[in-house]
Parts: sequence; C-alpha cells; structure tokens
Amino acid sequence: MPRRVPSFGLAVALLAPAACTQNDDPEGARQLYAKITAGAGFRAWERAPGYATRQPSFTAHADAVEVFVSPEIADALGGPTPITRWPDGSIVVKEGFRGDTRAIVAVMEKRAGRWYWAEYDGDGDTLFSGEPKVCVGCHDKRQSYSDWVYSFELPR
Ligand code: HEC
Repeated sequence: MPRRVPSFGLAVALLAPAACTQNDDPEGARQLYAKITAGAGFRAWERAPGYATRQPSFTAHADAVEVFVSPEIADALGGPTPITRWPDGSIVVKEGFRGDTRAIVAVMEKRAGRWYWAEYDGDGDTLFSGEPKVCVGCHDKRQSYSDWVYSFELPR
C-alpha cells in the first residue's frame, strides 16, 4: 500500500513498532531502562531548555514530547564554561505521547565519547538499542552543531 510521504514520513514509518526495530543490545537496553527509572526516576530530573512543559514534536517519535536531562547535562548547561561535546555520563530521555498515552521512551547516553541509543514502547519494552541506523542517521544532522542533540544546544 504505497503512499507518498515526505522524508520525515519515511522515518515515521520506520519507527512504527511492529514495522522495523533494531534491538541490537537487549540486555544493555534493559539495564539502561532500569537505570533511568531507578529511585525517583528521570521524571525527577531537570527538563531540557525549551521543554518546561510538554511540547509538540516535529518528528518521528510522537505528537508531543517531554525531554529530561541527567545531572551531567544540567550541570553543563548551568555552568559558566562553553563546551563542544556533552560529557560522558550524559543522558537525555524523551517521552513521546499520542494523545494522553505514552507511546515511546527514547534515550541517548554518552559512553566514552559516543552516544548509546535506545527506544522503548510506552511499557518500557525495547524497540531499538545500540547504535541503530535510523537514530544515528537522523541525529547526525546535528553532529557538528550540538553534539547529536536536537532539542537543545550546547552552552556556547
Ligand atoms: C527523522 C529524524 C529522527 C529520527 C529517525 C530519530 N530522531 Fe530522535 N529526535 C529527532 C528530533 C527532531 C528531536 C527533537 C524533539 C522532537 O521534536 O521530538 C529528537 C529528540 C530525541 C531525543 C531527545 C534529545 C534530543 O536529541 O533532542 C532523544 C533521546 C532521541 N531523539 C532519541 C532517538 C532514538 C533512540 C532514535 C532511534 C530509535 C531516534 N531518536 C530517531 C529526530 C529524530
């Protein structure tokens, strides 16, 4: 059933859960989910700049998103020093919603200078993990600008 879609639309199709997932590191993805939900969980972290409240999403993930940043990123954003890379240990979590339902949880974690990527469904089951082509291929447009991060910028 082919239909005409803009280029972002193609990525939307690729991200549809049953269509095409790339869970290359199931155990690592489970551990990362446990890490971001431990204790009070990521919802107790700071929200990313520009994401004080749920915002409309311009892409694949959902209709609306909430973006949370780990203390490593919050410190870098609040600090006086301009940086060109997010520090190791940085984690960004994006919750995507369709209506009031949480549809996805997308995560990136900086490990030894590289981002580890994972995406889960609304129940926390893994859809993507490792360095999935679809994640890397879209986020690399921001590689030289904000170190792969779309929704907010490096402190310059
Ligand atoms: C078609 C482009 C595209 C693809 C594919 C994509 N993303 Fe994103 N991503 C974005 C955009 C744009 C944002 C900014 C927030 C928004 O509008 O939803 C974003 C935001 C994020 C964020 C919040 C931090 C940031 O960079 O702003 C995470 C985490 C994230 N994506 C993870 C992933 C993961 C994991 C995958 C693969 C499963 C993925 N993304 C695939 C475009 C994409």
